[in-house]
Amino acid sequence: MATNNTVYLDSAVPDQVRRERLYAGQIFVFTPTPQTRTLRDFAAELIEEAFAPLDPGTAQYEMPVERFVEIFGPLKPKYMHHPKTRQLLCEVLAGFGCDLDETYLDVPKLRGVTSDAYLTAGVGYVHPLHRDTWWSAPVAQINWWMPIYEIESESAMAFHPEYWSKGVQNFSEEFNYYIWNAVGRAEAAKHVHSDTRRQPHPPEDIDPDPQVRFVVPPGGLVIFSATQMHSTVHNTSGRCRFSTDFRTVNIADLRAGRGAPNVDSHPEGTSLRDFHRLADGANLPNEVVAAYDHGEKPEGGVLVFAPPPS
Ligand SMILES: [Fe+2]
Repeated sequence: MATNNTVYLDSAVPDQVRRERLYAGQIFVFTPTPQTRTLRDFAAELIEEAFAPLDPGTAQYEMPVERFVEIFGPLKPKYMHHPKTRQLLCEVLAGFGCDLDETYLDVPKLRGVTSDAYLTAGVGYVHPLHRDTWWSAPVAQINWWMPIYEIESESAMAFHPEYWSKGVQNFSEEFNYYIWNAVGRAEAAKHVHSDTRRQPHPPEDIDPDPQVRFVVPPGGLVIFSATQMHSTVHNTSGRCRFSTDFRTVNIADLRAGRGAPNVDSHPEGTSLRDFHRLADGANLPNEVVAAYDHGEKPEGGVLVFAPPPS
């Protein structure tokens, strides 16, 4: 396929074909399925319980930002590491035809993007234009993104298709995943007003246009390659946007070196140790990880991020 020009809606192609098309820059969008609805409902339940009796979408208007961080900070790891979350995710992926023995899943994220720049740092970090591969994701990584409540264009995620084949300066060559695990991620909750953690980024504001945003219903999915240039839209919808996202890799693709083209990602280290087989939670074999593990393992670096006990 020559160019990234297609969005597939509720496509029934097998997982292998879907992966090939994702690696070619196409995007897949799905309306909710019974399994994604169950996952959405579980995430919503945790969020609503944490913010009760307030509406999570407008809770930010009822409390100082420090209080919001106090509530939302611990909620993220609670969802991410809940055994039920992983179980529901496996059911979602099985429903989409992912092979349980070949597909490996990382720990899902829960994100809250508040409206009108109430909280833009740390646990509410608003990601500017980026590719996940700048942060040591493999080019065979596939990202799955789901809003938990209704979203608007003003609270969506944006894709910037022109950069699919056009590299930009981004300083990923200065990024080491193991140092990030040791320092950057552990400090996220401390950054309430500004975010000074060292992260890859384009050197100046690169043109976000043309851009495409998918306004999918709660429990709908947007699936894309980790090399897609994407960003968090500066939320001006008046409601906090809650979403969950998770990532998969397929071991046959990793072994064969299949994946999206790499136009500008040169970080050290690999995030592949974060992925676990759907069938039984096993790690990827060492030789597969080693083939993607470039650069230094600095002293004090951490191969796999372990969140502080909450
Ligand atoms: Fe991302």
